[in-house]
Amino acid sequence: MRWWDIDPVLELEKDLFPEDAWSRGMFWSELAHSRGPEATRRYVVAVEDERIVGYAGLVASGDQGDIQTIAVARDHWGTGLGSRLLTELLRAATAFECAEVMLECRVDNVRAQKLYERFGFEPIGFRRGYYQPGNVDALVMRLSTASGSGPAAGAPAPSDHGVQGTDTHD
Ligand SMILES: CC(C)(COP(=O)(O)OP(=O)(O)OC[C@H]1O[C@@H](n2cnc3c(N)ncnc32)[C@H](O)[C@@H]1OP(=O)(O)O)[C@@H](O)C(=O)NCCC(=O)NCCS
Repeated sequence: MRWWDIDPVLELEKDLFPEDAWSRGMFWSELAHSRGPEATRRYVVAVEDERIVGYAGLVASGDQGDIQTIAVARDHWGTGLGSRLLTELLRAATAFECAEVMLECRVDNVRAQKLYERFGFEPIGFRRGYYQPGNVDALVMRLSTASGSGPAAGAPAPSDHGVQGTDTHD
């Protein structure tokens, strides 16, 4: 994701996270740490026919990765794009040498939870009232690399889901 992607990303963000959409400043701040040798973040966009149809980001802190966001345009749900974006983030976690990857997800977001579970994430707890102003709890999920095979080991290959033609890049 580059700064010129922020406007179209914000359009998707407002549609997909109507209660707690990130602001322009939050994306700017994340992107400020996503390039160069000291980068601690990786943000990717998925582009189809010059339109941004998905985006995702991960921050690495020490040996822990945190998925900050993952989102797919509604008309692309169920096409495997979410899986592909998650695969990109887990590759980044491996590159950052993360031993584990964490994420928070609204407890009522079953679709996202199923996606994470397919990649081997396990629920480890709750954060009460994490999402404001709706006061919705977060389910905390964790993917461990203790098996030594890397966080992307269990990830389905992107081609399994037929999203060829959608370009994913940072
Ligand atoms: C959660 C989200 C990212 C998932 O994206 P997606 O592109 O629909 O994800 P995928 O297509 O990879 O997988 C979703 C489902 O579609 C299925 N699927 C994948 N490819 C498919 C295809 N070609 N045909 C039919 N179904 C398919 C998957 O098996 C999966 O099914 P499951 O839920 O039963 O496991 C998307 O719904 C989204 O952006 N939601 C709003 C934002 C959000 O909630 N983000 C997560 C915050 S924690």
